[in-house]
Amino acid sequence: MAALDELREIVQLCRRADAWRSDTINLIASENVLSPVARRLLDSDFHHRYAEGHPGKRYYEGTRFIDEIEEKTRVLVGSVFKADRVDVRLPSGTLANEAAFSALVPQGATAIAHGLDGGGHISHARFGALGKRAARILELPRLPDGYRIDAPKAKDMIRAERPQIVVLGRSLFLFPEPVREIKEACIDVKATLLYDASHVLGLVAGGLFQDPLGEGADLFTASTHKTYFGPQRGMIAARGKDEEFWKPIDRAVFPGVTSNHHLFSLPSLHAASLEMREFGASYAEAIVRNARALGAALHKRGLHVDAADLGYTASHQIAVDVSAQGGGREVARRLAAGGIICNMNVLPGREGQTPLRPAGIRIGVQEMTRFGMGESEMGRIADLVHASAVDHKNVEEECRRLRSEFREIRYGYRLDQVELVPA
Ligand SMILES: Cc1ncc(COP(=O)(O)O)c(C=O)c1O
Repeated sequence: MAALDELREIVQLCRRADAWRSDTINLIASENVLSPVARRLLDSDFHHRYAEGHPGKRYYEGTRFIDEIEEKTRVLVGSVFKADRVDVRLPSGTLANEAAFSALVPQGATAIAHGLDGGGHISHARFGALGKRAARILELPRLPDGYRIDAPKAKDMIRAERPQIVVLGRSLFLFPEPVREIKEACIDVKATLLYDASHVLGLVAGGLFQDPLGEGADLFTASTHKTYFGPQRGMIAARGKDEEFWKPIDRAVFPGVTSNHHLFSLPSLHAASLEMREFGASYAEAIVRNARALGAALHKRGLHVDAADLGYTASHQIAVDVSAQGGGREVARRLAAGGIICNMNVLPGREGQTPLRPAGIRIGVQEMTRFGMGESEMGRIADLVHASAVDHKNVEEECRRLRSEFREIRYGYRLDQVELVPA
């Protein structure tokens, strides 16, 4: 194929992806959409540039504008999370974990974290970032509901096993972690307490869910694009820590896991953080209200939503056991064919499931909340999920119709407010 034909094909694929996504109901719990301003700011000369090190102490010339933006973003993010140590140079949440673990976990160490069926992320696992340094990774014990840590047992485990690090926070993340209690045991054995806030960062910024640093976590790592409004990046933050604690982390970020840090998306992270500061509280409240409403609506229609007796969730996510409808893989595919996009997910304590044949699906409402959907739309989504997952109906047309009523991104700034024009 001639180069220009191939290029046209790529252009077409991008256009089709844009058009398709704007017609679908996206319920992937790890995704979100940028405001028009945050999106527009991705397109600048910074796409072409390098800046290694810290503002004012770079290895290249030509960085004075990104220096200013980077410093302002670091300070702004610090103010959002009341953190006095902040690194915004991470290109992703996994790299934030990679940097933190390489700074804090000695080779051959013992670590305690969530197992995969407890919602842990692959970067906390034997075959991920943590496993590159820890020789033993023990799983945090859970209460019978499968979603909450059994804090007394976890404290006993920490005191008996004396890990170098305990990792809280997860990918299937319905309820807050008992940070304060776990911290007591960590102090006794001098273990670092790391909280991976990737999923709930926007809720934390909005003053909901929990305040990991205020409750005792030594630091948090996060990606910036799930419940937070940012572009795809990562961050690390801490409160009240001295230079001795922070310096190895700083070195692990650069030169440990980054050289250049993808400057082009830093202005966008700044815009997103301003939006979080202004709209975060009402956004976070709307998300949790919607997630609970969707849990209740699906439950009412006969689907097995986990943690029903706990109100389904305290976050943006709900977990639905769809074993009776053919399993997570089948149902997620059926839903996607009808324009409802979510992911299959292993659920706690189900026998016989595997990551590729899991019992459930994970649903997140943060993106549809950002498009302005509320509790009554959660009822409409529940109808569509039920019609597709249980009755095998094609819901594409209804899905498109519902989505067409919610096109405008809320809780963010408009281009005209800052004299920007579309790219
Ligand atoms: C708990 C947790 N940590 C880290 C990550 C990785 O984030 P990223 O995709 O930004 O590398 C994820 C991603 O889903 C996650 O769920």
